[in-house]
Amino acid sequence: MIFTEKETSVLKDLQTQEKVCMEHYNLCASVAKDSGLRDLFSRIARDEQEHFQSITKLINGEMPSFDRVVNMADDYQPNVAYNTSSNQADMKHDELLCSDSIGNEKLVSTDYNTSLFKFGNGEVRKLLNHIQTEEQQHAEMIYKYKKANGMAQ
Ligand SMILES: [Fe+2]
Ligand SMILES: [Fe+2]
Repeated sequence: MIFTEKETSVLKDLQTQEKVCMEHYNLCASVAKDSGLRDLFSRIARDEQEHFQSITKLINGEMPSFDRVVNMADDYQPNVAYNTSSNQADMKHDELLCSDSIGNEKLVSTDYNTSLFKFGNGEVRKLLNHIQTEEQQHAEMIYKYKKANGMAQ
């Protein structure tokens, strides 16, 4: 696969962004107070690593394979760690990690949508759409966690 200079530069930006996402979730997984939330962040970090690998493959001119879209958020059963009698400082701490992550997913999802329109190849568009959908599902899982833990406003 041959990309134009503009397409290559878009892919490089997405690649950098995925690396940041991966590092963000690995960091969140290491500092979250609740072990269930640490598991969720680790799981999302692995997805971000896959995204990073897919974009890297594209940059190298190969088309990565991807599964059909299933909504991982549908099956996600959040851990219930917090209620009104929990340690409020721990709860606030984990709530901030969640809210910050949802904010990031919103930005990344928007970025994929914008980037998609810059590609001539339909298969590449499908892949970017697939990744965008997964970013939305990450936000949905984190929202489910917040809701189950009394953090959702
Ligand atoms: Fe991602
Ligand atoms: Fe994500």
